[in-house]
Amino acid sequence: MTSANQKFVLVTGGCGFMGSHFIRLLYNKYPNYTIVNLDLLTYAGNQENLKDVNDSEKALPEDERRYIEVVGDVCDEKLVNNLFNEYKFDLVVHFAAESHVDRSIFNFGDFIRTNIEGTRVILEAVKRYKVPQTIHISTDEVYGNVPEGLSTESSPLNPSSPYAASKTAGDMLARTYATIYGIPLAIVRSSNNYGTFQYPEKLIPLTITNLLNDEKIPVHGEGQHIRSWLHVEDFCDAVDRIAHSGFDFSIYNLTGEHRSNLEVIEQIANYLDKNHLDYIEHVHDRPSADLRYAPDASKIRKELGWEATHRFSDSLGAAVDWYKNNEKWWKDIRSKGEFLDHYEKQSKARWY
Ligand SMILES: NC(=O)c1ccc[n+]([C@@H]2O[C@H](COP(=O)([O-])OP(=O)(O)OC[C@H]3O[C@@H](n4cnc5c(N)ncnc54)[C@H](O)[C@@H]3O)[C@@H](O)[C@H]2O)c1
Repeated sequence: MTSANQKFVLVTGGCGFMGSHFIRLLYNKYPNYTIVNLDLLTYAGNQENLKDVNDSEKALPEDERRYIEVVGDVCDEKLVNNLFNEYKFDLVVHFAAESHVDRSIFNFGDFIRTNIEGTRVILEAVKRYKVPQTIHISTDEVYGNVPEGLSTESSPLNPSSPYAASKTAGDMLARTYATIYGIPLAIVRSSNNYGTFQYPEKLIPLTITNLLNDEKIPVHGEGQHIRSWLHVEDFCDAVDRIAHSGFDFSIYNLTGEHRSNLEVIEQIANYLDKNHLDYIEHVHDRPSADLRYAPDASKIRKELGWEATHRFSDSLGAAVDWYKNNEKWWKDIRSKGEFLDHYEKQSKARWY
C-alpha cells in the first residue's frame, strides 16, 4: 500500500553488523519507509541479523510489506541501475564494504573491488538518478595513526592498512562526486563500533566467544593499541540524525570511549569471572599497525545535538550477555570454513 509520504531507502551491506542495526532502526522508527537492502552475503553478511525484521514482514499482508532484500553485488552496475530505476530512492546509505583490516593484509584485491569500485558504482547511480540524500559510511582509520590530540574532519588522511587505503579512496571518490557533480552527500567517519551481531573475528566478539569457548585470545603485539569504542546504536542514531538534517555536503566524525585492546579484553574477562592473563597469547603485531585513533566528534555534537548515550563500562556487559544467550548465532559462524580458514592465519599472525 503506498502513501503520499512514502519514502524509498537503499541500504547497501545491510546484512552486516552495522547495516543490520541501521535497517532495524529505520524499519521500527519510520513506518512510511520502504527499505531495499542490497547485500552480496559475503562471509560477513548474515540474513539472521535481520530475522526480527523478516518475521515482522511475514506477519503483514503483501501490499503492506516494506523491507526488500536483494542479494547482489554493489559492483554490478546493471543490477544497481535497475534498482535505482525501479525505486527512485529518496535516501541511499552505503555501508557495503570489506571491513576487516587483518583480511585486507592477506588479500588486498577484494578491498579494492568492493570499497573503491563498488563505491564508484553506487555514486554513479546516485548521480544519474539524482538521489536527494546520500550517506557514505567511511571510518576513522582514514586519518591513520594519531599519537596525540584528535583528528578533525579537515585533518589530513594518512591510511596505513590496505583496508584503510581502500576506504580512503572510497571516501575521496564520494567527496569528488559531491564537489564535481553537486550531489547532496554526507561522509561519516566513525570510530570502532561494538554491540550485538558483530562477526566474531573482530576484537570484542572474538574475545567474548573465545572466553566462552575457554580458548586463548590472540593479541596483536603488546595489546596497547588504543581505539575509541562506540556502541552501534549510538552510531545508528548519528546516521539517522544526519539523514534527516538536509545536508548539501558534510563530513562528520563519530567517536566513543578510548580503551587499549588489553583493557577491553580485561573488562570482558572480569565480566565473565575469568582472569584475562590466563587467556592472552601475544602474537606478531600487524605490519605498520596504528597505535591510536582519536576522531573529534565536536562538529556533530554542535550541529546535530548528537551524543553517545551508551557508557562502555555498562554496555560492554550487555553485549557479552547477548553473545552468551545467542550461542547458536556465533557457533554457526565459527564452524564455517570462511571463519576457520581466516582465523588460522589471524591467530598465528602470519602476515605474509
Ligand atoms: N565495524 C566497525 O567498527 C566500523 C567502524 C567504522 C566504519 N565502519 C564501516 O562501516 C561499514 C559497515 O561495517 P560492518 O562492520 O558492519 O561490516 P561487516 O563486514 O559486518 O558487513 C559488511 C556487509 O557488506 C556486505 N558486502 C560486502 N561486499 C559486498 C558487495 N560487493 N556488494 C554488496 N554487499 C557487500 C557483506 O555481505 C556484509 O553484509 C563499512 O563500510 C565499514 O568500513 C565499520
